[in-house]
Amino acid sequence: MCGIVGYVGSRSALDIVMAGLKRLEYRGYDSAGVTMLADGGLAPAKRAGKLVNLEKELAERPLPAATTGIGHTRWATHGAPTDVNAHPHLDNAGRVAVVHNGIIENFAHLRAELEGRGHTLASETDTEVVAHLLAEEYSGRADLAEAMRRVCRRLEGAFTLVAVHADAPGVVVGARRNSPLVVGVGDGESFLASDVAAFIAHTRDAVELGQDQVVELRRDGVKVTGFDGRPADVRSYHVDWDASAAEKGGYASFMLKEIAEQPKAVADTLLGRVDGSGSLTLDEVRIPPELLRELDKVVIVACGTAFHAGLIAKYAIEHWTRIPCEVELASEFRYRDPILDQRTLVVAISQSGETMDTLMALRHAREQGSRVLAICNTNGSTIPRESDAVLYTYAGPEVAVASTKAFLTQLVACYLVALYLGQARGTKYGDEIRDVIRDLSRITGSVERVLETMEPVRELARSLAHHDTVLFLGRHVGYPVALEGALKLKELAYMHAEGFAAGELKHGPIALIEEDLPVVVVVPSPRGRSVLHDKIVSNIQEIRARGARTIVIAEEGDEAVVPYADHLIRVPATPTLLQPLVATVPLQVFACELATARGNEVDQPRNLAKSVTVE
Ligand code: AGP
Ligand code: GLU
Repeated sequence: MCGIVGYVGSRSALDIVMAGLKRLEYRGYDSAGVTMLADGGLAPAKRAGKLVNLEKELAERPLPAATTGIGHTRWATHGAPTDVNAHPHLDNAGRVAVVHNGIIENFAHLRAELEGRGHTLASETDTEVVAHLLAEEYSGRADLAEAMRRVCRRLEGAFTLVAVHADAPGVVVGARRNSPLVVGVGDGESFLASDVAAFIAHTRDAVELGQDQVVELRRDGVKVTGFDGRPADVRSYHVDWDASAAEKGGYASFMLKEIAEQPKAVADTLLGRVDGSGSLTLDEVRIPPELLRELDKVVIVACGTAFHAGLIAKYAIEHWTRIPCEVELASEFRYRDPILDQRTLVVAISQSGETMDTLMALRHAREQGSRVLAICNTNGSTIPRESDAVLYTYAGPEVAVASTKAFLTQLVACYLVALYLGQARGTKYGDEIRDVIRDLSRITGSVERVLETMEPVRELARSLAHHDTVLFLGRHVGYPVALEGALKLKELAYMHAEGFAAGELKHGPIALIEEDLPVVVVVPSPRGRSVLHDKIVSNIQEIRARGARTIVIAEEGDEAVVPYADHLIRVPATPTLLQPLVATVPLQVFACELATARGNEVDQPRNLAKSVTVE
């Protein structure tokens, strides 16, 4: 949610802040604003709508030159996305400016208090109270970091705050509770941002901010303290993503680029972990083997696309390890009073590592004594930091809001966890596990093959642009693939899309089938568990008999589906449990093309944000 950038140095703060916001715009994009510290005062500019509106405003009314400044792209929680509600927010004297990510839960109480003391608040946001409180705390003390600590101690909720004060030249102060904030340390300049993508063009040296910490940023360095004022231990790290990985590189959208990057992302995630001889090395899972052997339950928590990866993982984990596995939406899990103990392994899956629902779920699990293994794509983010162990996915930066390459790498990581647990516990599937590890080591080529044959899928998507509804069906691991296909279509094409377990159709959803309704069906391999395959072929016939237009995803050489497929999408032959790695790709391409045909912007779908840091 929302992008934050702060800069202190000797270059143009406005150029650096605006370039950083551009890289973060995927996080939230309903309004944007900046404030520069110039000539002993504050120079703000803000505009509703995308960053380009702010750029226009700045071109028409340039701000004075400045070397200290802050900026924000907003994802509104309190108050509509208007010019007034856009950040930064200033106090009445116009001396303090604040940007904020998250929600201040006790803002109504603080607002009433401030109004009682004569302050006038102009916006509907929860954020504005912070500017006024900071102004009060700063007056007479002249220490912005201390003022920030004092204010933070009064705030409830999740927040990242970044502020400047007209009387504190060359200083930017940031604070963090639950929402992300990273510090970049350059040569004679310092950066603050919600994500390293904002500053990797300038420095790869980052400092992680912990829970309840305040950072004071100056040209010559940074000072981190706890909200209580005590000096904090800081962890520095080197960011190994390079800046070009976050550029579009000739593609029309980040999403298209990220879809195309999937073979590499999968290969990178497998690198050094599996080899063609069928062996598996997962040094990162530092949970002692005896504990893994004693586990009696695995619980997976995640949201959205990551949740779908978890649903697929359940099939693999239960099959290869014989340990019961539950998969739960993190937002539901946390408030349900789940039964957990030391013998439960909780797996938290998150691309960003900052999703608040998932973070709250893992904290809850750790409080109950469970070990938490994170599957995450973002080094230095909160979820891996708070977990007992982490298996990183190597998808590289994922910028498009719709998750694609991160999903495929999450699947790879889930299979690795399942196989690793299977190996550690020595189930009867030892030989099968060795074969699957070999299959996984060859999967990159299959994903590449799918991508090479996508033109007919794009054509089909364009021809369906006028439809209102598309349904998706699958069985076994094909069911979560159907859910993921439907989610992609909803978020990108704004169409009514639903995924169903094919066997469940006759219990209600079949009533939705009508003449020419497009229904995508994910068909498992006819080899191996052929009964699954035969059942779904019957389901295709049932919907076709009722007029559906069938779009069938089936493996090369599967002739049984041919008579019932109005459109046939072929994927390379893959063992059923691994099939989601190839079957999902056409659904991503389908949703992306359909959304484009409907005139939608695929990288930044309406109402969404890449990283959801509020509950
Ligand atoms: C997927 O396309 C989404 N935009 C969304 O569902 C996402 O997967 C979810 O919000 C979880 O994010 P995370 O992986 O960063 O935790
Ligand atoms: N709650 C704040 C608002 O609505 C911050 C939103 C954000 O994270 O962008 O303005």
